[in-house]
Amino acid sequence: MKSKMCEMFGIELPIFAFSHCRDVVVEVSKAGGMGVLGMARMSPERVEEELDWIDAHIGDRPYGIDVLMPSRFDDPGDGKFDPDSLLPKEHVAFVRRLLDEAGIPPLPEDEAAEIKREIVKGLNFTPAESLAMVDTALKHPIKLIVNALGSPPPELVERAHARDIKVGALAGKPKHALRHRNAGCDFVVAVGTEAGGHTGEVSSLVLWPSIVDAVAPLPVLGAGGVGRGRQLAAALVLGCEGVWTGSLWLKTVQSEVIPEIKQKMFEAEATDAMLTTSVTGKSCRTLRNRFSEAYELPGAPPTLPAPTQNYLWWQEGRTRVERVRAKEFLTYPVGQIVGDMQAETSVREVVYELLHEMLDARERLDGMLE
Ligand SMILES: Cc1cc2nc3c(=O)[nH]c(=O)nc-3n(C[C@H](O)[C@H](O)[C@H](O)COP(=O)(O)O)c2cc1C
Repeated sequence: MKSKMCEMFGIELPIFAFSHCRDVVVEVSKAGGMGVLGMARMSPERVEEELDWIDAHIGDRPYGIDVLMPSRFDDPGDGKFDPDSLLPKEHVAFVRRLLDEAGIPPLPEDEAAEIKREIVKGLNFTPAESLAMVDTALKHPIKLIVNALGSPPPELVERAHARDIKVGALAGKPKHALRHRNAGCDFVVAVGTEAGGHTGEVSSLVLWPSIVDAVAPLPVLGAGGVGRGRQLAAALVLGCEGVWTGSLWLKTVQSEVIPEIKQKMFEAEATDAMLTTSVTGKSCRTLRNRFSEAYELPGAPPTLPAPTQNYLWWQEGRTRVERVRAKEFLTYPVGQIVGDMQAETSVREVVYELLHEMLDARERLDGMLE
């Protein structure tokens, strides 16, 4: 295929795959697209390990990384996070009661202490530590850095561009996209509300063309709701130069998702990808689960701001739930395309099906225009 994004990275298909799983990253790049490893707040040691593995398996194909970096060094998120003083007792009690009543055993004390240490380490990541993480990544042949938390800071853009690495950022509104363009981004990802993970309120059908127009001639990737070839075709028709996908890869054999959650995804409908602040404190689309539903019932406490709610969920909820694989509580970020997921498949098969259906869509459109 020909598109500005294919030219930018020397790739055959303008299909970008966000994944926390290195196997997916490698497979998508090998299939002609572009794998992007979600690093969130990995330690430099872990970054080294993951990228060494990718370098050893990806051949000469390009790949990228996705980081969570605040746009300013004096970002309020920089303040050290002390969960014990921030977690209100009634919120902890609410979650404990919910899990106790469902018969989910508490964590053994030593496990709880270790988990708590790890979570606090992740949450107390400063922008300087994020840059150290990026510096480690820059020693690898990455071709792209995408920032998930607002516009990338100037330090990041400078370091990347000095090495001919492209920079992108996620946007849920045209004004976010304009900010990214002004920050020096080489392209923008327009994320419709259908998307898995953190997402805004505007649907892809409305958002994509408005961002394409706002930042033209800067290229735009359409994200949120791309699970099949007709949706890929729609993104291109609406002016995008390619697609940015996340949920689609969760159903593959290569993905990191545990079998119990995969099975839940196969049984889910589109409306089971619920938008909730219960998991991270920000609006996040995730697989329906009893924990998130409990926050919608009368009498539930309001959710806490990020990252405190995220800490509450991990410390009091997720680890307890996943330890015993309690199906009703299991969740994972996923978009509305979950309703289309029926069975496990491979990355290659997914790419093949995307292309096959996109070509059918073109034929259909061509037929209507004759
Ligand atoms: C499991 C999962 C985790 C995600 N984590 C992140 C993340 O850490 N950083 C980020 O920029 N986006 C993250 N996203 C959002 C994706 O980058 C992307 O915007 C979204 O998946 C696109 O919509 P789709 O899910 O309909 O394909 C995540 C998405 C999923 C499904």
